[in-house]
Amino acid sequence: MQQPGMLAGKVAIVTGAGRGIGRAVALLMANEGARVIVNDIGAALDGAGRSDDPAASVVAEIQAAGGQAIASTLSITEYTNAQAIVEQAVQAFGRVDIVVNNAGILRDRIFHKMSPQDFTDVLNVHLIGSFNLSSAAAPLMREQKAGAFVHMTSTSGLVGAVGQVNYMAAKMGIVGLSRGIAMDMQAFGVRSNCVAPFAWSRMVDSIPAKTPEQEARLQRAQTVTPEKVAPLVAFLACDAAREVTGQIFGVRKNEVYLFNQPRPIRTLHKSDGWTVGALAEQVASLRTQFTPLEDTAGVFSWPAN
Ligand SMILES: NC(=O)c1ccc[n+]([C@@H]2O[C@H](COP(=O)([O-])OP(=O)(O)OC[C@H]3O[C@@H](n4cnc5c(N)ncnc54)[C@H](O)[C@@H]3O)[C@@H](O)[C@H]2O)c1
Repeated sequence: MQQPGMLAGKVAIVTGAGRGIGRAVALLMANEGARVIVNDIGAALDGAGRSDDPAASVVAEIQAAGGQAIASTLSITEYTNAQAIVEQAVQAFGRVDIVVNNAGILRDRIFHKMSPQDFTDVLNVHLIGSFNLSSAAAPLMREQKAGAFVHMTSTSGLVGAVGQVNYMAAKMGIVGLSRGIAMDMQAFGVRSNCVAPFAWSRMVDSIPAKTPEQEARLQRAQTVTPEKVAPLVAFLACDAAREVTGQIFGVRKNEVYLFNQPRPIRTLHKSDGWTVGALAEQVASLRTQFTPLEDTAGVFSWPAN
């Protein structure tokens, strides 16, 4: 007899589930027994345009494999849409146990050329969108005394990336959103965690490879598939992760990481108070422990394996 899946009986909403990582998460969750709302507006990488096709085709894939899913093509940037998506899940499947905030866009620009529109559009999808859907689902989860949020952050935020001030701000904002939800909803048995994924998708494909080293790195990146991200996300959403909340994980091919979270690492104390001059003298002693301005490739310098 076939074992029931790790998500049997659960209802999951996965945003940006028409492509890339979200698609892999939706397919795996359905395979593990969840009924899934496949939300995706079918936008271009920069957020432009709309198509029903990506969401519909993932729903068809899930159904063809014997799972249950319905499509949603509403943008999570509007609060009323987020409420409608939750309502759609309740109407179709009776509850909401899991929200995966995965939808995303990119508008990479060097900071001095980044327009207010580039900044707010990226914040609106990643951060405001994640707030919208989390907020819309929260009262239900509170009532159920159970629920799990998984939010996609990025090492581009946690570590850094040139030309991504908007994306970095959004992804670090999501870390705060997740941690705050974990703290506020702990009393109701609701959990919230972040995942910083690595996966070959059109998002990564958009990063220009200018040098032979960058080209080699991109070729290696193609072996890091979205399907490698999905098990960690599905695990964080399932009851076996009941002790796990407020954390930041990463996944790159077959590696899973737990990230640290900012804590003071050194203290300077001056009993008669600080002056600018005294700081100028003393802060130098911290220099060896400054966090260098390195990017993701600088921190994850070994090949994905
Ligand atoms: N691919 C990576 O290596 C990587 C690395 C770090 C973080 N991430 C994060 O993982 C998530 C998924 O990335 P991906 O690489 O699979 O991207 P992707 O571009 O392949 O998929 C993102 C999907 O989100 C959808 N979307 C965009 N705006 C939306 C909106 N307003 N409402 C609903 N859907 C919307 C798009 O139509 C698209 O199908 C993103 O949050 C991304 O920032 C990805």
